[in-house]
Amino acid sequence: MKQKMKSVKYLARIVFFILISTISCKKTDPMQEVISKSFDVIEQQALGMAEYLDDKEGRLPRSYVKEKDEIITSDSRWWCSGFFPGVLWYLYEYTGDPGHMGWAEKYSARVEKEKYNTYDHDIGFQIYCSIGNGYRLTGREDYRDVMVVAGKSALERYNPDLGVIRSWDSNRQKWQYPVIIDNMMNLELLMWNFDHTMEQKFRDVAVSHADKTLEHHFRPDNSSYHVVSYDTLTGLPHVKQTHQGAFDESIWARGNVWGLYGYVVMYRETNLERYLDQATAIANLLIDHPNMPEDGIPYWDYLAPEIPDALRDASAGAIMASALIELSTLTEGELSQKYLSMAEKQLTTLASPEYLAEPGTNGFFVLKRSVGHLPGNSEVDVPLTYADYYFVEALLRYKTLKGW
Ligand code: GLY
Repeated sequence: MKQKMKSVKYLARIVFFILISTISCKKTDPMQEVISKSFDVIEQQALGMAEYLDDKEGRLPRSYVKEKDEIITSDSRWWCSGFFPGVLWYLYEYTGDPGHMGWAEKYSARVEKEKYNTYDHDIGFQIYCSIGNGYRLTGREDYRDVMVVAGKSALERYNPDLGVIRSWDSNRQKWQYPVIIDNMMNLELLMWNFDHTMEQKFRDVAVSHADKTLEHHFRPDNSSYHVVSYDTLTGLPHVKQTHQGAFDESIWARGNVWGLYGYVVMYRETNLERYLDQATAIANLLIDHPNMPEDGIPYWDYLAPEIPDALRDASAGAIMASALIELSTLTEGELSQKYLSMAEKQLTTLASPEYLAEPGTNGFFVLKRSVGHLPGNSEVDVPLTYADYYFVEALLRYKTLKGW
């Protein structure tokens, strides 16, 4: 009898031990900590920003000058106008709080008129990140209508003879028809329109643009040029240069991660293997490059002459993490694990005090230390609204992937 009691007690101890370890394992998963700690900051900063701008008619956040404690804002025409409404939508997705939805609706309304933007290629950033997220989360019919109008506006910049969407109407004499690698990010708006209207033109234009970019923007090592300008008579590139990178043949970090993100989207939307091949080739280049820092946040340019003292670009790290999380779901085995591990590292670094703001500081932006346009001496080592947007998106993507 004594022996039986002993075994029961022993068994009970084992069961108790397993239960405690399971509970404490769940509690201490490092990525769960990263996500919840980051969202605490995101909520406080985004609400602080929403309240600060509330009475500033039509204004949206752009950056922050620490020395003057000044929040820099823009109107809806700036290419980044959709990112803050997008952050609010993602915050609402995380919390389910109707108050957060109210703010998201309010700031999305400030961007809506950009549905008519035909003056540059940035309509995808402006409308997809704001109203597109709003439609995804609410199903509002008026948001759907905005997305369709925006898709049609985006088509206006497509030249069927060249097969690409024009990026800038620049008066820079050196470019006849400039297309920047960033433009890959606007194809998601076109593919959304194809999915929702079944009008073939949206898909045809997106595929043509992605194919031409594949043909002309990439070097043999799969790094990309920033600007390719097409000769409007021959239809061929007449110049390949940089605008925001260190030099023409350099690897400007954000441009290259825009390309990565864009081909991940195009593979998800079309199932065309060539886009998956390009996405994995870019990812491998950026992850395995000898100048990729150990903590996963790229220098602003992979070939910046001042490496190892070059500035890091948090925005490139955040965009890359978000793209890699999705790419990990489209690949298998070791490759998939490689992409997810890098994204985990990047999110962990971005959630450290080096990059994540103390609530109430940093002009209500979430992340510090991004580089906008270093050669133009503009927005260098500052918070930027797109760094915040893709950081929040990546955290949510990771959470969804894990089913938390
Ligand atoms: N042109 C968008 C960017 O600076 O990444």
